[in-house]
Amino acid sequence: MRIDIITVLPELLESPFAASIMKRAQTKGHLQIEVHNLRDFSDDKHRNVDDYQYGGGAGMVMSVGPISKAIDSLCAKYRYDEIIYMTPDGDTLAQPLCNQLSLAQNLLILCGHYKGVDQRIRDLYVTKEISIGSYVLSGGELAAAILVDAVVRLIPGVLNDETSALTDSFQDGLLAPPVYTRPPEFKGLKVPEVLLSGNPKDVAAWREAQALERTQLRRPDLLSE
Ligand code: ADE
Repeated sequence: MRIDIITVLPELLESPFAASIMKRAQTKGHLQIEVHNLRDFSDDKHRNVDDYQYGGGAGMVMSVGPISKAIDSLCAKYRYDEIIYMTPDGDTLAQPLCNQLSLAQNLLILCGHYKGVDQRIRDLYVTKEISIGSYVLSGGELAAAILVDAVVRLIPGVLNDETSALTDSFQDGLLAPPVYTRPPEFKGLKVPEVLLSGNPKDVAAWREAQALERTQLRRPDLLSE
């Protein structure tokens, strides 16, 4: 998969992809990420990319010029499955959308800033608008990093067996069951007997029951979907 990200703060996107699974995905050739500085597409001598909003009001708006130039130049080279705009008024990110996006070949992600982008960019170019939750961040970069992480770990071959995405929370519509490792007893709390039993059928049944119980308690909304 190839992912291009357009941002005014490329430095915010350096470390999230430089360690652990995201780094391995790139080393193993499953992922190519390129971060583009929007200011490189500005015709302004101060490399400005924003302007006052029509109608007045506090906060700047990201101008059409640099963004359309950046998107046009990338679209001339790659065919994007989706052009995604990270914004608090987008669709809330959840596992089914991550699963769907993990099948894409090329994704283009635009990070918003200030009051957001001129509506005409959204009307002309954007095919998906994604929010990572009902709160406002200072910009779309951290949201983009979360989206990329959640999607890339689902690309076949990125995770190994021990970190398999198939047993993640949400993958079967349930939260994951509790997990334990050594020692068998800690501060008076024992690992459930069944996990030490060596009986795979009993272990699987226990995990399923625990996943259901945890979901009923913590996220009953998942069971009514
Ligand atoms: N930009 C600012 N807040 C955001 C959010 N909650 N999700 C996605 N992008 C954002």
